[in-house]
Amino acid sequence: MIDKIAGLIANIEKKSINSAEELEALRIEFLGRQGILKDLREEFKTVPGPEKREVGMALNELKASIENKLATAKEVLEENEETQGEGMDLTRPHGGVPLGSRHPISVVRRDILDIFNRIGFTVAEGPEIEDDWHVFSGLNFPPEHPARDMQDTFFVEKNPDLMLRTHTSSVQVRAMETQEPPLRIVMPGRVFRNEAISARAHCIFHQIEGLYIDKGVSFADLKQTLLYFAKEFFGEDAKIRLRPSYFPFTEPSAEVDVYWGLKTEVDYRITKGTGWLEILGCGMVDPNVLKASGIDPEIYSGYAFGMGIERIAMLRHQIGDLRHFFENDARFLKQFSSAF
Ligand code: DAH
Repeated sequence: MIDKIAGLIANIEKKSINSAEELEALRIEFLGRQGILKDLREEFKTVPGPEKREVGMALNELKASIENKLATAKEVLEENEETQGEGMDLTRPHGGVPLGSRHPISVVRRDILDIFNRIGFTVAEGPEIEDDWHVFSGLNFPPEHPARDMQDTFFVEKNPDLMLRTHTSSVQVRAMETQEPPLRIVMPGRVFRNEAISARAHCIFHQIEGLYIDKGVSFADLKQTLLYFAKEFFGEDAKIRLRPSYFPFTEPSAEVDVYWGLKTEVDYRITKGTGWLEILGCGMVDPNVLKASGIDPEIYSGYAFGMGIERIAMLRHQIGDLRHFFENDARFLKQFSSAF
């Protein structure tokens, strides 16, 4: 009897079941009221006492084997039915593909570029690996300027004339060298600095540079353009102020603050108690810079500005730590899924 049961188990394992009918037939053959198992139980009664234990165990094994076979075959058949042909229900709601979201830096960059596009600025781009001329010398940096230091700039080891650009101002030089004024461009891009990474600094970040060169461009034009930008980006009530500053490539130079407010404790902290936040650097393009790129400063004048995208995104979304932008943590990024 043991051999007979073992033969049945082997047969069950080999069997292939291709339809619900075959499944049901197999069930009846083994488990039905006149099925094989029923007969075997009858036969079991005649097994002599000492063998009962072993034969009983074999019978249990057979029962488990047929039940297991039927359950697995049922699952496979149901699955096939769902994905093929008749059983498929086209009205069933799908599982939902989670939508991705744009990175907050991309959204802010696009919004800033849109604002300038509307008043006639077009977009220009330049390389991330640059030479000394476009990053420093062409922008009137003196040879001993600290920005040229290894501590601040990533140089290419085999060629110290090459480096990762530390600002998008390098694209200004490329534009002035290759295009005739009038020039009205915005230049977004990644920049690199040899900084320790912290909540306020990173070795990679993004800037948008602006440049306008024409006959008779004045500081008043610069100020009005930046005020327009601030109102478009931060809202109609936005106020700006310009503080005198210094950059080698502009004269005069200024830093621009936008009024943030001083209502809450957080406002006090992020504005250091002043209510104002710095958003960009700007100025009138230094005549030396125009000359270096082949533009006659007797005929043309212009203004330039440069802003950090991360900083502006942090203000817009009240994000306290710059590192969030670079970690690609889906829990952070998902929060901006509506910011298309
Ligand atoms: N390049 C400057 C920086 O990275 C920002 C800047 C300041 C750009 C003044 C300008 C400008 O075009 O006029 O800090």
